[in-house]
Amino acid sequence: DILSEIASLERLFTVDTEKLKEITEQFIDELHQGLKGEGNIPMNPTWVMNFPDGEETGSFLALDMGGTNLRVCEITLTDEKGEFDIVQSKYRMPEELKHGTAEELWDYTADCIEQFIEYHHEDERDNLDTIPLGFTFSYPATQEHIDNGVLQRWTKGWAVEGVEGEDVVPQLEKALKERNLPVTVAALINDTTGTLIASAYTDQSMRIGCIFGTGHNGAYLETCGNIPKLKHMNLPDDMHMVINCEYGAFNSKGQHPVLPKTQYDVMIDETSPRPGQQAYEKMTSGLYLGEIFRLAMLDLHDNKKILLADQDLKAFRTPFCLDASFLSFIEEDPFENLSETQDMLNDKYGIKAARPELELLRRLAELIGTRSARLCACGIAAICKMKGFDSCHVGADGSVFNKYPHFKQRNAKALREILDWQKGKKDPVVVSSSEDGSGVGAALIAALTVKRIKAGN
Ligand code: BG6
Ligand code: GLC
Repeated sequence: DILSEIASLERLFTVDTEKLKEITEQFIDELHQGLKGEGNIPMNPTWVMNFPDGEETGSFLALDMGGTNLRVCEITLTDEKGEFDIVQSKYRMPEELKHGTAEELWDYTADCIEQFIEYHHEDERDNLDTIPLGFTFSYPATQEHIDNGVLQRWTKGWAVEGVEGEDVVPQLEKALKERNLPVTVAALINDTTGTLIASAYTDQSMRIGCIFGTGHNGAYLETCGNIPKLKHMNLPDDMHMVINCEYGAFNSKGQHPVLPKTQYDVMIDETSPRPGQQAYEKMTSGLYLGEIFRLAMLDLHDNKKILLADQDLKAFRTPFCLDASFLSFIEEDPFENLSETQDMLNDKYGIKAARPELELLRRLAELIGTRSARLCACGIAAICKMKGFDSCHVGADGSVFNKYPHFKQRNAKALREILDWQKGKKDPVVVSSSEDGSGVGAALIAALTVKRIKAGN
């Protein structure tokens, strides 16, 4: 019956303290492997080598290409230490572009930049000095310099042809040139790097930047002596380098599978455009939460026949038709009888659910949301333990962090469990919101780069 089904879902999706610790230990191992150029986690050097000091000035464009939106911003770093002005336009990334060709992707991107410039710099376009652009490209990229980046592989369900294995900067610059836009790419960065740099701009205790959004990833500052795969470059051991971990790839393959995958996680992986990749991200990030829910719901209906048995679930048959906001809505239903959920299912999907069924759906949403928040604590804890940070701040951005109900509390609780927090003591590691981090971070990094070039190094 429904009650015993709820109990079995609880067993399936609950990750206890012991398991979180075991995952974190394996995570530390895989972070170390990545620094040697081995294993699952890319640990990409970013060539961002220091934090801004607040003295950066000038106007910069930032192009923010995440998994869901495209944003163009103009950021003016003022003479006032640490202050900036920002104007921005947001464009939705059309679904078909994510599976189209490179040319379509860069044409669309350059069109958005062109629109932005025409709108905000009406009349002066032809007389504008060249504006440096910080390009936040939130995918794994191999960089030999700050202003290039070869896409290692698409993540977050993208599969644009003709970009993997290629440097994305000349591809974008070609489209900009065709439109005679006075823009040059000064820096290519990841959203986690941007979030880290922007947060560190105003907070000296900032050590890690994280994205909990469509995808899931983290970045931190390493010293070159700890990066064996850069040894051949003879960089000074104490030189700093931000590492974009790309830790959504944690535990994808190898000898020690520790992630508590369900049959639904396995199905998502097998039907994804990139099976066998991003195992950790596929269990935690916003892109997949609705899909995990949908697959579990259909299983309870089609195979176990205990949910909505006399109803037609055709509205739920399309893969990825539910996004994380569907779970948020159910988790946020303020009424004990779950009447908002009941109305939503009826109005939007023509489904009539009885009270015990609503309760099962609510518990399922809670379990999936909680599992994500708890697993997300492992990446942060692993960096803290590897680096020996006893206490620090983590800057976070992304739709899951900012919008998913209880995510922050659940994540904080799991972090305390992993780090053996003692009651009555302050939280050693505090994760807080850094909205707009990528845009400002991209501008700051572009500013640091321009400064470095001017200084001749
Ligand atoms: C935005 C950042 O706020 O959050 C992006 O500007 C980042 O750089 C994004 O990629 C992540 O969230 P989501 O939910 O849009 O993937
Ligand atoms: C994916 C991307 C990574 C990005 C993250 C969050 O994991 O590979 O580059 O930081 O999503 O957007």
